[in-house]
Amino acid sequence: MPSATLRREYEAACRASDRLFGRIAAEAWYDRPIPERHRLIFYLGHLEAFDWNLIGKTALQRGPLQPSFDQLFAFGIDPPSGQLPDDRPADWPARREVAAYCRRVREALRPVWRGAAKEVLQMAIEHRLMHLETLAYLLHQLPPEKKRIASRPVAAWPAPEEQFVDVPAGVATLGREPESGFGWDNEFRAQSVAVPAFAIGRHKVTNGDYLRFVGEGGPVPGFWRRGRAGWRLLAMGGEIPLPLDWPVYVTQQQAAAYARWRGKALPSEAQFHRAAYGSPRGERAYPWGSAAPAPGRGNFGGARWDPVSVAAAPAGQSAWGAAQMVGNGWEWSSTVFAPFPGFVPHPFYPGYSRSFFDGRHYVIKGAGPRTPARLLRRSFRNWFRADYPYVHAGFRLVEN
Ligand code: AVJ
Ligand code: FE
Repeated sequence: MPSATLRREYEAACRASDRLFGRIAAEAWYDRPIPERHRLIFYLGHLEAFDWNLIGKTALQRGPLQPSFDQLFAFGIDPPSGQLPDDRPADWPARREVAAYCRRVREALRPVWRGAAKEVLQMAIEHRLMHLETLAYLLHQLPPEKKRIASRPVAAWPAPEEQFVDVPAGVATLGREPESGFGWDNEFRAQSVAVPAFAIGRHKVTNGDYLRFVGEGGPVPGFWRRGRAGWRLLAMGGEIPLPLDWPVYVTQQQAAAYARWRGKALPSEAQFHRAAYGSPRGERAYPWGSAAPAPGRGNFGGARWDPVSVAAAPAGQSAWGAAQMVGNGWEWSSTVFAPFPGFVPHPFYPGYSRSFFDGRHYVIKGAGPRTPARLLRRSFRNWFRADYPYVHAGFRLVEN
């Protein structure tokens, strides 16, 4: 990919993050909408500090730009629940100063852009794109008056009957080979996994399906609220009556508990690959084939804030008939996030994956409504703690 294209991608990602920050009300910058994460002000400085630390300092060996800010905004946090951060708003610099730092970084990067390796630019682009989604998780938890996000009326579709589709035995390729294009450290190296035959839900588990579990004492999803007239859903713009035909967003622990209750299981990472990308004539790049992701292929790329019905067209079906394997909500797997054989931490960002190989994070696959299309490549692996309730992730069942 020529650097001019990458530079355009970087600029587009900057415009997208600027727009997203523009949706935060002035009085909310020092709020901490998710107790396990930093205050919003951190993220404003983080995207630029990351780029300066990576491109300017590490890759091009320039000096620090503004040492205290380069460090303060270098890394996010992911504490186990129960060990929450206790910093105060006054511990953070004024928004005006952070904004000035951001402008300085963009200025400083402009002339050095040409000299940076493509891989480094791709890391900066994808880091920013990942934060578009994790920032959306933070905005999700802000009250409506503190953000500019409009709720759209919800068209209810009939929730489909539960159905399973057969996936014949075959090989799933996880990860990617060096020289095969950009990937994060955890995507290397490629692995072939033999997967025995199994069946998988045609659709993701819906709010309506999960409601029966809650009725029998199952754990309540973090996005659900009990209203006077029944359950409500915290959608991105605020609360709405629970849409029974949307995929349910839950933690990995809740998904696993539901699967046990049904006498079924969650898919492993390899089963997800086989269900999404396998076909009778070999593996595909995307569930629908080799065509690049486009808006009509599914609910991803930030066109919407919220899910659509699991039965909505376009289905983005896999060769086996499993719908929405990419888009409309990430899907939890039963696989602990761990390195593939041959894993080597990236020297420019050694902690990107390695800090999370602790047995407590699980792989999620697919994509959510806010996942940028660039992150839909087959080998991309995402992960969160098993009890993290803020991610746009649901699940589907498998029968082994
Ligand atoms: C890959 C989404 C789990 O948000 O913790 C952002 C991405 N890493 N900055 C996260 C990330 C560093 C990461 N996830
Ligand atoms: Fe980050």
